[in-house]
Amino acid sequence: MRQYKWGIIGTGSISHLFAQGLKDASGANLYCIASRSKQKADAFARNYNIPVAYGSYEELADDPHVEIVYIGTPNSLHCDNSLLCLQKKKAVLCEKPFAMNTDQVEKMIHYAQKNNCFLMEALWSRFLPSIQKVQWLIDNKVVGDPICIKADFGFLADYKEESRLFNPLLGGGSLLDIGIYPVFLSFLLFGYPDEISSHAVMAPTGVDLSTGVFLSWKSGQFAQLASSFDVDLDTEAVIYCTKGKITLHRRFHMPTRLSISTADGCKEIPLDWKGNGYNYEAEEVMRCISEGRLESQLLPLSFSLQLMKLLQTILELAKKVPSAKEKSLSSEHIHQTV
Ligand SMILES: NC(=O)c1ccc[n+]([C@@H]2O[C@H](COP(=O)([O-])OP(=O)(O)OC[C@H]3O[C@@H](n4cnc5c(N)ncnc54)[C@H](OP(=O)(O)O)[C@@H]3O)[C@@H](O)[C@H]2O)c1
Repeated sequence: MRQYKWGIIGTGSISHLFAQGLKDASGANLYCIASRSKQKADAFARNYNIPVAYGSYEELADDPHVEIVYIGTPNSLHCDNSLLCLQKKKAVLCEKPFAMNTDQVEKMIHYAQKNNCFLMEALWSRFLPSIQKVQWLIDNKVVGDPICIKADFGFLADYKEESRLFNPLLGGGSLLDIGIYPVFLSFLLFGYPDEISSHAVMAPTGVDLSTGVFLSWKSGQFAQLASSFDVDLDTEAVIYCTKGKITLHRRFHMPTRLSISTADGCKEIPLDWKGNGYNYEAEEVMRCISEGRLESQLLPLSFSLQLMKLLQTILELAKKVPSAKEKSLSSEHIHQTV
């Protein structure tokens, strides 16, 4: 397979994981890192033996050797950072949530099409063996037809107004950060819901601290979902089917355990993992590009746009509920991060 020269934008925690993941992605050559600070870029480059380090994102976008850019910046910057790279005709893999709203996602798609560039949301769960296995179990009706999904994602976050989790200017809030995983699972398995209701408790910064969601489909399917930075939820997903249930165990967005339960008992489904998991989305990007495709069939741009619409609608509805109230928090509140 041919080697592709990757560049990474941002030197935060996810960029470190992605750089490690690239080591297990066949065909990937981590060529370049860009940070707002040259010092941080140099340190990151030393860590992963990256030959080129830039002190601005623009320099990376201008480098003609960079073929694919991974964007690991806060949510509110995803759109601008993607446009910067697409304008310079780079393929882009941008972290989830793809952007802050559907207008931004539409703009990103427009730029990708105009510049004939590959674009994909880095929703890594989509490419993990666990999701492929769940889809196989459902398609083959191993536990019958799916009726209900119960899924949540929550942890006690260290409350700091300026952190990207709580800062509205960086696109904070539990739904966009972690609630996206249960919402994604429901949308993937059942499609866009016919009815949406939601409720949120707001943090003092105005972003959602916790959000509860109920989705339903005319076909009779329904989903009960939650996200929170205020409580350590099970972070499991259970898909209840007509003949039993499928459980994606904690943390379900990257489960190392998957089980099915039927009247005959409970059975573990083996999962084969390679690398830290981020390698799978990177391999999907390179596979698509090598096949001359500008988007992934597993995670098409129309899917990411609809997912954004669903997340946006959930948030808008949650904020409209009259009892949606702000919980008072201080920086002494709870101290733990994922
Ligand atoms: N797929 C996953 O499993 C996963 C897990 C965690 C997070 N994420 C996503 O990845 C993205 C980044 O999350 P993270 O946890 O890596 O965040 P983080 O540790 O805060 O890193 C974000 C990086 O973005 C850059 N940046 C640019 N402008 C910034 C600004 N105004 N304020 C702060 N940072 C800025 C910084 O890099 P430089 O200073 O080097 O420019 C910073 O290190 C988010 O969109 C999040 O949803 C995905």
